[in-house]
Amino acid sequence: MQLSESDFKAVTRESGLASGLPNYAYTSADFFALEQEKLFASTWTCIGNGCSVPRVGDLQPVGFLGQPLLMSRNRHGDIKVFHNVCSHRGNELVWEACHVDKVIQCPYHAWAYDLDGRLLATPNVGGSGVHTIDGLDNNEFGLREARSAVWMDLVFVNLSADAPDFESFIGPLQQRIDRLVAREQFTALKPAATHGTYTIDFAGNWKLCVENNLESYHLPTVHPDLNAVSKLEDHYHFYGDDLYAGQGSYRYDHEQTNLADFPLFAGWQGKVAEYPTLYPNVFLGLQADHYWTRIVQPLSAERSLDHLQIYYLGDAADSPDFEAARAHRLEVWAKVFNEDIGVVEGMQRGRRSSAFNGGVFTPIMDKPSHHFARWVANRIGETG
Ligand code: FES
Ligand SMILES: [Fe+2]
Repeated sequence: MQLSESDFKAVTRESGLASGLPNYAYTSADFFALEQEKLFASTWTCIGNGCSVPRVGDLQPVGFLGQPLLMSRNRHGDIKVFHNVCSHRGNELVWEACHVDKVIQCPYHAWAYDLDGRLLATPNVGGSGVHTIDGLDNNEFGLREARSAVWMDLVFVNLSADAPDFESFIGPLQQRIDRLVAREQFTALKPAATHGTYTIDFAGNWKLCVENNLESYHLPTVHPDLNAVSKLEDHYHFYGDDLYAGQGSYRYDHEQTNLADFPLFAGWQGKVAEYPTLYPNVFLGLQADHYWTRIVQPLSAERSLDHLQIYYLGDAADSPDFEAARAHRLEVWAKVFNEDIGVVEGMQRGRRSSAFNGGVFTPIMDKPSHHFARWVANRIGETG
Protein backbone atom coordinates (compact mmCIF):
# COMPACT_ATOMS: atom_id res chain seq x y z
CA MET A 1 0.00 0.00 0.00
CA GLN A 2 1.92 3.00 -1.28
CA LEU A 3 0.71 6.58 -1.11
CA SER A 4 -1.85 7.63 -3.69
CA GLU A 5 -0.56 10.06 -6.28
CA SER A 6 -2.53 12.96 -4.82
CA ASP A 7 -1.46 12.19 -1.22
CA PHE A 8 2.17 11.93 -2.33
CA LYS A 9 1.97 15.29 -4.10
CA ALA A 10 0.23 16.94 -1.15
CA VAL A 11 2.90 15.80 1.33
CA THR A 12 5.96 16.51 -0.82
CA ARG A 13 4.82 19.94 -2.03
CA GLU A 14 7.75 22.38 -1.84
CA SER A 15 5.82 25.64 -1.98
CA GLY A 16 2.57 26.66 -0.34
CA LEU A 17 1.05 24.62 2.45
CA ALA A 18 1.92 20.93 2.45
CA SER A 19 -0.34 18.26 3.94
CA GLY A 20 0.57 15.71 6.54
CA LEU A 21 0.59 12.02 5.68
CA PRO A 22 -2.92 10.63 5.23
CA ASN A 23 -4.73 8.79 8.03
CA TYR A 24 -4.01 5.34 6.63
CA ALA A 25 -0.28 5.96 7.07
CA TYR A 26 -0.95 5.87 10.82
CA THR A 27 -3.61 3.16 11.05
CA SER A 28 -3.08 0.60 8.28
CA ALA A 29 -1.32 -2.71 8.90
CA ASP A 30 -0.36 -2.86 5.20
CA PHE A 31 1.29 0.56 5.34
CA PHE A 32 3.07 -0.50 8.53
CA ALA A 33 4.40 -3.62 6.79
CA LEU A 34 5.70 -1.53 3.90
CA GLU A 35 7.43 0.80 6.36
CA GLN A 36 9.26 -2.12 7.94
CA GLU A 37 10.83 -2.82 4.59
CA LYS A 38 11.27 0.64 3.07
CA LEU A 39 11.97 2.84 6.10
CA PHE A 40 13.67 0.49 8.55
CA ALA A 41 15.20 -2.63 7.02
CA SER A 42 16.77 -0.78 4.10
CA THR A 43 18.76 1.66 6.24
CA TRP A 44 20.53 1.71 9.60
CA THR A 45 17.93 1.37 12.32
CA CYS A 46 18.54 1.65 16.03
CA ILE A 47 17.33 -1.33 18.07
CA GLY A 48 18.65 -0.56 21.55
CA ASN A 49 21.34 0.83 23.82
CA GLY A 50 24.66 -0.94 24.18
CA CYS A 51 24.46 -0.48 27.95
CA SER A 52 21.66 -3.04 28.08
CA VAL A 53 24.37 -5.71 27.50
CA PRO A 54 27.20 -4.32 29.66
CA ARG A 55 29.09 -7.55 30.39
CA VAL A 56 30.60 -10.28 28.24
CA GLY A 57 27.88 -12.93 27.91
CA ASP A 58 24.90 -10.59 28.38
CA LEU A 59 22.01 -11.35 26.04
CA GLN A 60 19.11 -9.07 25.21
CA PRO A 61 16.35 -10.27 22.90
CA VAL A 62 14.72 -7.49 20.88
CA GLY A 63 11.62 -7.82 18.73
CA PHE A 64 12.27 -5.21 16.07
CA LEU A 65 11.35 -4.77 12.43
CA GLY A 66 8.86 -7.58 12.89
CA GLN A 67 11.69 -10.00 13.62
CA PRO A 68 13.28 -11.61 16.66
CA LEU A 69 16.81 -10.23 17.10
CA LEU A 70 19.41 -10.80 19.80
CA MET A 71 21.87 -8.23 21.10
CA SER A 72 24.88 -9.79 22.78
CA ARG A 73 28.42 -9.02 23.91
CA ASN A 74 31.18 -11.43 22.92
CA ARG A 75 34.39 -12.30 24.73
CA HIS A 76 36.24 -9.40 23.09
CA GLY A 77 33.68 -6.99 24.51
CA ASP A 78 32.12 -6.32 21.08
CA ILE A 79 28.38 -6.07 20.60
CA LYS A 80 26.95 -8.47 18.05
CA VAL A 81 23.40 -8.74 16.79
CA PHE A 82 22.11 -12.14 15.69
CA HIS A 83 18.79 -13.29 14.35
CA ASN A 84 17.30 -14.77 17.50
CA VAL A 85 16.34 -18.11 16.04
CA CYS A 86 17.80 -21.58 16.50
CA SER A 87 19.16 -23.12 13.31
CA HIS A 88 17.59 -26.50 14.16
CA ARG A 89 13.80 -26.16 14.27
CA GLY A 90 13.54 -22.39 14.47
CA ASN A 91 12.77 -21.96 18.14
CA GLU A 92 13.25 -18.39 19.31
CA LEU A 93 16.58 -18.88 21.00
CA VAL A 94 16.59 -16.41 23.91
CA TRP A 95 13.26 -15.41 25.40
CA GLU A 96 14.30 -12.88 28.00
CA ALA A 97 17.36 -10.83 28.97
CA CYS A 98 19.93 -13.03 30.69
CA HIS A 99 23.63 -13.65 31.22
CA VAL A 100 25.58 -16.73 30.10
CA ASP A 101 29.19 -17.68 30.73
CA LYS A 102 30.20 -18.73 27.25
CA VAL A 103 27.40 -20.67 25.66
CA ILE A 104 23.91 -19.84 24.38
CA GLN A 105 21.84 -22.99 24.67
CA CYS A 106 18.54 -23.48 22.90
CA PRO A 107 15.79 -24.40 25.39
CA TYR A 108 14.21 -26.87 22.91
CA HIS A 109 16.77 -29.61 22.07
CA ALA A 110 19.82 -27.97 23.69
CA TRP A 111 21.87 -27.09 20.62
CA ALA A 112 24.58 -24.75 21.86
CA TYR A 113 26.24 -21.71 20.27
CA ASP A 114 29.21 -19.61 21.37
CA LEU A 115 29.04 -15.81 21.75
CA ASP A 116 30.16 -15.37 18.15
CA GLY A 117 27.25 -17.50 16.98
CA ARG A 118 29.23 -20.63 16.10
CA LEU A 119 27.37 -23.89 16.60
CA LEU A 120 29.31 -25.78 19.25
CA ALA A 121 27.22 -28.77 20.20
CA THR A 122 24.23 -30.78 19.00
CA PRO A 123 23.50 -33.12 21.93
CA ASN A 124 21.98 -36.53 21.13
CA VAL A 125 21.54 -35.57 17.49
CA GLY A 126 22.60 -39.03 16.30
CA GLY A 127 20.59 -40.91 18.94
CA SER A 128 20.83 -41.02 22.70
CA GLY A 129 24.41 -40.33 23.72
CA VAL A 130 25.57 -39.69 20.13
CA HIS A 131 26.29 -36.03 19.60
CA THR A 132 27.23 -35.84 15.91
CA ILE A 133 25.71 -37.12 12.71
CA ASP A 134 27.12 -37.54 9.21
CA GLY A 135 26.26 -34.71 6.87
CA LEU A 136 25.54 -32.16 9.57
CA ASP A 137 28.36 -29.62 9.39
CA ASN A 138 28.35 -27.29 12.40
CA ASN A 139 29.91 -24.55 10.25
CA GLU A 140 26.74 -24.36 8.19
CA PHE A 141 24.36 -24.03 11.11
CA GLY A 142 25.69 -21.19 13.20
CA LEU A 143 23.51 -18.23 14.15
CA ARG A 144 22.87 -15.71 11.40
CA GLU A 145 24.48 -12.41 12.25
CA ALA A 146 22.84 -9.11 11.29
CA ARG A 147 24.98 -6.27 9.97
CA SER A 148 25.37 -3.99 12.98
CA ALA A 149 27.19 -0.91 14.27
CA VAL A 150 27.47 0.92 17.59
CA TRP A 151 27.55 4.72 17.85
CA MET A 152 27.03 6.92 20.92
CA ASP A 153 26.06 3.69 22.73
CA LEU A 154 23.24 3.12 20.23
CA VAL A 155 23.10 -0.25 18.48
CA PHE A 156 22.08 -0.14 14.81
CA VAL A 157 21.27 -2.89 12.36
CA ASN A 158 20.90 -2.90 8.60
CA LEU A 159 18.82 -5.95 7.77
CA SER A 160 18.92 -5.45 4.00
CA ALA A 161 22.74 -5.53 4.31
CA ASP A 162 23.14 -3.09 1.43
CA ALA A 163 22.99 0.32 3.12
CA PRO A 164 26.13 2.46 2.82
CA ASP A 165 28.77 1.76 5.44
CA PHE A 166 27.80 3.10 8.84
CA GLU A 167 30.55 5.74 9.04
CA SER A 168 29.39 7.44 5.85
CA PHE A 169 25.76 7.11 6.89
CA ILE A 170 26.23 8.83 10.26
CA GLY A 171 28.93 11.31 9.14
CA PRO A 172 26.71 14.40 8.71
CA LEU A 173 25.12 14.01 12.15
CA GLN A 174 28.48 13.26 13.74
CA GLN A 175 29.78 16.52 12.28
CA ARG A 176 26.88 18.46 13.76
CA ILE A 177 27.58 16.98 17.19
CA ASP A 178 31.31 17.70 16.81
CA ARG A 179 30.39 21.41 16.73
CA LEU A 180 29.00 21.07 20.25
CA VAL A 181 31.49 18.81 21.94
CA ALA A 182 34.75 17.02 21.16
CA ARG A 183 34.21 13.38 20.24
CA GLU A 184 36.63 12.08 22.87
CA GLN A 185 34.45 13.48 25.64
CA PHE A 186 31.71 11.04 24.83
CA THR A 187 33.99 8.24 25.95
CA ALA A 188 33.68 9.65 29.49
CA LEU A 189 29.91 9.23 29.38
CA LYS A 190 28.37 6.44 31.39
CA PRO A 191 24.78 5.27 31.59
CA ALA A 192 23.09 6.38 34.79
CA ALA A 193 23.39 3.45 37.20
CA THR A 194 20.10 4.42 38.83
CA HIS A 195 17.22 6.61 37.68
CA GLY A 196 18.43 6.55 34.11
CA THR A 197 15.88 4.67 32.11
CA TYR A 198 12.23 3.88 31.50
CA THR A 199 9.97 2.57 28.76
CA ILE A 200 6.57 4.03 27.88
CA ASP A 201 4.09 1.82 26.02
CA PHE A 202 1.79 4.13 24.06
CA ALA A 203 -1.25 3.84 21.83
CA GLY A 204 0.12 5.73 18.86
CA ASN A 205 1.92 5.32 15.56
CA TRP A 206 5.68 5.77 15.89
CA LYS A 207 5.70 8.58 13.27
CA LEU A 208 3.48 10.79 15.40
CA CYS A 209 6.07 10.53 18.16
CA VAL A 210 8.77 11.57 15.67
CA GLU A 211 6.74 14.45 14.25
CA ASN A 212 6.00 15.74 17.75
CA ASN A 213 9.63 15.49 18.82
CA LEU A 214 10.80 17.51 15.84
CA GLU A 215 8.98 20.75 16.61
CA SER A 216 8.96 23.16 19.53
CA TYR A 217 5.66 24.83 18.55
CA HIS A 218 3.81 22.89 21.27
CA LEU A 219 6.18 23.95 24.03
CA PRO A 220 4.08 26.65 25.79
CA THR A 221 0.89 24.58 25.73
CA VAL A 222 2.08 21.02 26.31
CA HIS A 223 5.19 21.71 28.43
CA PRO A 224 4.56 24.88 30.47
CA ASP A 225 7.24 23.91 33.03
CA LEU A 226 9.89 23.24 30.39
CA ASN A 227 8.91 26.44 28.61
CA ALA A 228 9.81 28.32 31.79
CA VAL A 229 13.37 26.93 31.58
CA SER A 230 13.77 26.99 27.80
CA LYS A 231 11.23 29.18 26.05
CA LEU A 232 9.66 28.81 22.63
CA GLU A 233 11.32 31.99 21.34
CA ASP A 234 14.76 30.64 22.29
CA HIS A 235 14.43 27.68 19.93
CA TYR A 236 15.74 27.07 16.41
CA HIS A 237 15.36 24.27 13.89
CA PHE A 238 18.02 22.48 11.84
CA TYR A 239 18.09 19.98 8.98
CA GLY A 240 20.55 17.36 7.78
CA ASP A 241 19.44 16.39 4.28
CA ASP A 242 17.70 13.03 4.46
CA LEU A 243 19.38 11.84 7.65
CA TYR A 244 18.06 13.99 10.47
CA ALA A 245 16.32 17.17 11.52
CA GLY A 246 15.84 18.69 14.91
CA GLN A 247 15.40 21.60 17.20
CA GLY A 248 17.70 23.32 19.61
CA SER A 249 17.51 25.89 22.35
CA TYR A 250 19.93 28.77 23.04
CA ARG A 251 18.77 28.92 26.63
CA TYR A 252 18.37 25.51 28.18
CA ASP A 253 19.20 26.47 31.74
CA HIS A 254 20.26 23.15 33.20
CA GLU A 255 21.04 24.81 36.52
CA GLN A 256 17.42 25.71 36.95
CA THR A 257 16.37 22.07 36.97
CA ASN A 258 19.39 20.61 38.80
CA LEU A 259 19.63 19.45 42.39
CA ALA A 260 23.42 19.04 42.07
CA ASP A 261 26.28 20.34 39.94
CA PHE A 262 26.83 17.60 37.42
CA PRO A 263 30.20 17.57 35.60
CA LEU A 264 30.01 19.53 32.34
CA PHE A 265 31.26 18.70 28.85
CA ALA A 266 34.46 20.75 28.42
CA GLY A 267 34.08 23.66 26.04
CA TRP A 268 30.28 23.52 25.85
CA GLN A 269 28.95 26.78 24.41
CA GLY A 270 26.70 28.70 26.80
CA LYS A 271 23.26 27.27 27.42
CA VAL A 272 22.82 25.54 24.08
CA ALA A 273 20.96 22.23 23.99
CA GLU A 274 20.23 20.26 20.83
CA TYR A 275 17.65 17.61 20.03
CA PRO A 276 18.39 15.86 16.74
CA THR A 277 16.03 13.20 15.47
CA LEU A 278 17.97 10.61 13.50
CA TYR A 279 15.60 9.07 10.98
CA PRO A 280 13.75 6.91 11.31
CA ASN A 281 13.42 6.41 15.05
CA VAL A 282 16.08 7.84 17.38
CA PHE A 283 15.95 11.04 19.41
CA LEU A 284 19.08 12.49 21.01
CA GLY A 285 19.19 15.05 23.80
CA LEU A 286 22.50 16.88 24.11
CA GLN A 287 22.89 19.19 27.07
CA ALA A 288 25.94 20.68 28.82
CA ASP A 289 25.85 18.13 31.63
CA HIS A 290 24.05 15.08 30.29
CA TYR A 291 23.08 13.15 27.19
CA TRP A 292 19.98 11.08 26.63
CA THR A 293 18.62 8.84 23.93
CA ARG A 294 15.05 7.88 23.13
CA ILE A 295 14.43 4.95 20.82
CA VAL A 296 10.95 4.60 19.39
CA GLN A 297 10.13 0.98 18.76
CA PRO A 298 7.10 0.42 16.54
CA LEU A 299 5.01 -2.59 17.60
CA SER A 300 2.11 -2.14 15.21
CA ALA A 301 0.50 0.69 13.26
CA GLU A 302 -1.14 1.98 16.42
CA ARG A 303 1.14 0.91 19.24
CA SER A 304 4.77 1.69 20.05
CA LEU A 305 7.34 1.76 22.82
CA ASP A 306 9.48 4.74 23.80
CA HIS A 307 12.74 3.79 25.56
CA LEU A 308 14.70 6.48 27.42
CA GLN A 309 18.32 6.18 28.55
CA ILE A 310 20.22 8.98 30.32
CA TYR A 311 24.04 9.27 30.44
CA TYR A 312 26.32 11.40 32.63
CA LEU A 313 29.98 12.29 32.75
CA GLY A 314 32.21 10.44 35.19
CA ASP A 315 31.07 9.89 38.75
CA ALA A 316 27.75 11.61 38.24
CA ALA A 317 26.52 8.42 36.57
CA ASP A 318 26.96 6.10 39.51
CA SER A 319 28.05 7.97 42.63
CA PRO A 320 25.54 7.90 45.52
CA ASP A 321 26.30 11.63 45.93
CA PHE A 322 24.28 12.27 42.77
CA GLU A 323 21.49 9.79 43.50
CA ALA A 324 18.84 12.34 44.44
CA ALA A 325 19.84 14.63 41.57
CA ARG A 326 19.62 11.75 39.06
CA ALA A 327 16.18 10.85 40.40
CA HIS A 328 15.04 14.44 40.07
CA ARG A 329 16.34 14.76 36.52
CA LEU A 330 14.60 11.57 35.44
CA GLU A 331 11.40 12.83 37.00
CA VAL A 332 11.67 16.16 35.14
CA TRP A 333 12.26 14.51 31.74
CA ALA A 334 9.68 11.78 32.32
CA LYS A 335 7.09 14.48 32.97
CA VAL A 336 7.98 16.21 29.69
CA PHE A 337 7.94 13.00 27.65
CA ASN A 338 4.68 11.84 29.21
CA GLU A 339 3.18 15.18 28.23
CA ASP A 340 4.34 14.45 24.67
CA ILE A 341 2.85 10.97 24.72
CA GLY A 342 -0.48 12.52 25.73
CA VAL A 343 -0.69 14.53 22.51
CA VAL A 344 0.75 11.70 20.41
CA GLU A 345 -2.11 9.49 21.58
CA GLY A 346 -4.52 12.37 20.96
CA MET A 347 -3.27 12.67 17.36
CA GLN A 348 -3.64 8.92 16.94
CA ARG A 349 -7.29 9.09 17.99
CA GLY A 350 -7.70 11.98 15.54
CA ARG A 351 -6.52 9.70 12.71
CA ARG A 352 -9.83 7.85 13.10
CA SER A 353 -11.75 10.97 12.02
CA SER A 354 -13.41 10.97 8.59
CA ALA A 355 -13.18 14.77 8.69
CA PHE A 356 -9.35 14.78 8.73
CA ASN A 357 -6.81 13.31 6.36
CA GLY A 358 -3.41 14.76 7.14
CA GLY A 359 -4.14 18.37 7.99
CA VAL A 360 -1.49 20.94 7.24
CA PHE A 361 2.14 21.63 8.03
CA THR A 362 2.57 25.32 8.62
CA PRO A 363 5.76 26.46 6.87
CA ILE A 364 7.70 27.83 9.84
CA MET A 365 6.67 26.11 13.05
CA ASP A 366 5.99 22.67 11.54
CA LYS A 367 8.89 22.69 9.10
CA PRO A 368 11.01 19.90 10.69
CA SER A 369 7.96 17.63 11.02
CA HIS A 370 7.27 18.23 7.34
CA HIS A 371 10.92 17.41 6.55
CA PHE A 372 10.35 14.00 8.14
CA ALA A 373 6.96 13.39 6.46
CA ARG A 374 8.60 14.12 3.10
CA TRP A 375 11.39 11.67 3.97
CA VAL A 376 8.73 9.02 4.64
CA ALA A 377 6.78 9.80 1.46
CA ASN A 378 9.86 9.70 -0.75
CA ARG A 379 10.84 6.29 0.56
CA ILE A 380 7.40 4.75 0.54
CA GLY A 381 6.68 6.11 -2.95
CA GLU A 382 3.43 6.60 -4.77
CA THR A 383 1.13 4.17 -6.48
CA GLY A 384 1.62 3.68 -10.20
S1 FES B 1 15.03 -25.86 17.93
FE1 FES B 1 16.81 -25.33 18.98
S2 FES B 1 17.72 -27.19 19.48
FE2 FES B 1 15.94 -27.79 18.39
FE1 LIG C 1 7.36 17.93 23.44
